[in-house]
Amino acid sequence: MISDVITKGINGVPKIPGDKSISHRSIIIPSISKGICEINNILKSEDVLHTLNALKAMNVNIEESGKKLIIQGKGLNSLKEAKKKIYLGNSGTSARLLTGLLSSQKFKSVLTGDESLSSRPMKRITDPLGEMNAKINTTDGSLPLTIESSDLKPINFDLKIPSAQIKSGLLLAALNTKGETKITESKITRDHTEIMLDSFGANIETQKVDNKKIIKIVGQKELLPNNIDVPNDLSSSAFFMVSALINKNSKIILKNINNNPTRNGIILALQKMGAKIKLANQRKNNNEIICDIEVVSSDLHGCELGPEFADLMIDEYPILAVAASFANSPSLFRGLKELRVKESDRLKLILLNLKNCGIDCKSENDDLFIYPSKNYEIKNNYIQTDFDHRIAMSFCVMGTKIGPLNIEDSESINTSFPTFKNEFNKLGGSIF
Ligand code: S3P
Repeated sequence: MISDVITKGINGVPKIPGDKSISHRSIIIPSISKGICEINNILKSEDVLHTLNALKAMNVNIEESGKKLIIQGKGLNSLKEAKKKIYLGNSGTSARLLTGLLSSQKFKSVLTGDESLSSRPMKRITDPLGEMNAKINTTDGSLPLTIESSDLKPINFDLKIPSAQIKSGLLLAALNTKGETKITESKITRDHTEIMLDSFGANIETQKVDNKKIIKIVGQKELLPNNIDVPNDLSSSAFFMVSALINKNSKIILKNINNNPTRNGIILALQKMGAKIKLANQRKNNNEIICDIEVVSSDLHGCELGPEFADLMIDEYPILAVAASFANSPSLFRGLKELRVKESDRLKLILLNLKNCGIDCKSENDDLFIYPSKNYEIKNNYIQTDFDHRIAMSFCVMGTKIGPLNIEDSESINTSFPTFKNEFNKLGGSIF
């Protein structure tokens, strides 16, 4: 895929797909509820389809009609052993959440993934599940995983790695475990699982104590069915926001976007850089906050963000780095350790590709420094993505300013945003 300079700005109302995190949960949680659930606006991307196919393979009846699903949940213990190994492609969320869910089931499961997923750390979820008595064998700490049937016991767990995937995997295991499991979080992670479990009638309670969040869940209570309208994805919107901000004569409106406060760091960070971003029609749906967002071309300045921002926007640093490259002063983003264990080592690829695009930058102790200048001398216009969708889309946006960039392995974009190229070009982008 080649991304080239645009001249007339980015203008219009892009169709942003359903939120990826909420889509995974909107398949898993209804599948173990007791009744029929209608899900609208599900994201039909490769990652989410892996979760969907996994649940179907475990005998859940799911009817699909476009972006609508009808899921016939039959209860916490209704899943059946899959006939084959469950393949999860590139999807870390499927892997961590399903490991938790399956560790409390009375059958054996084997989870596998593509090369990138098979190199990502799984002990962060299998170790705490092991404390609950789960019987899981990893392959050198990664996928393939074999999960054996076992009786789990509840635990008190301090979530030291700030990861919603770990927290959610543990909550799904605790849901089918007798007694009260307690998870203490000292850094914010996205709370879609808690919100959804609560709306399905789980015995779950959260409280704030001394800047920490404590989540208590009492297991073995059947979930009630519920319908879900999946809001549109803020992370996918961010590529359009930054395209509009850095290109003159741009104005876009993003509709029905999830603006969950545990995840909206990108809006706060861009506003700190002087971005003209207006939020309107704030409302609640299934207890998630949604809104419409207007973004117009802006003169950005650099900013310094502390590690607390990483908790609120870990997936958005690649696109934020592109925005910072066109600001009129340097930026410093601190505490990006977790970026190293995403779909790729994102910190490494941000640095490599920014430097190839002629942008001065460096990292020290997992902090990222970006020094923008007015002259961009492209050194190498091949963008290495290591099959990471967010790196690929971020450098498509970079191409709109500095000239033709060849984005390698760009088919990874299908993992989260299959219609990205079409939507981008409809609004004035130039990707071919
Ligand atoms: C996700 C949580 C985040 C995020 C990922 C989706 C989720 O990962 O990076 O894209 O849906 O729970 P971590 O929980 O590992 O930080």
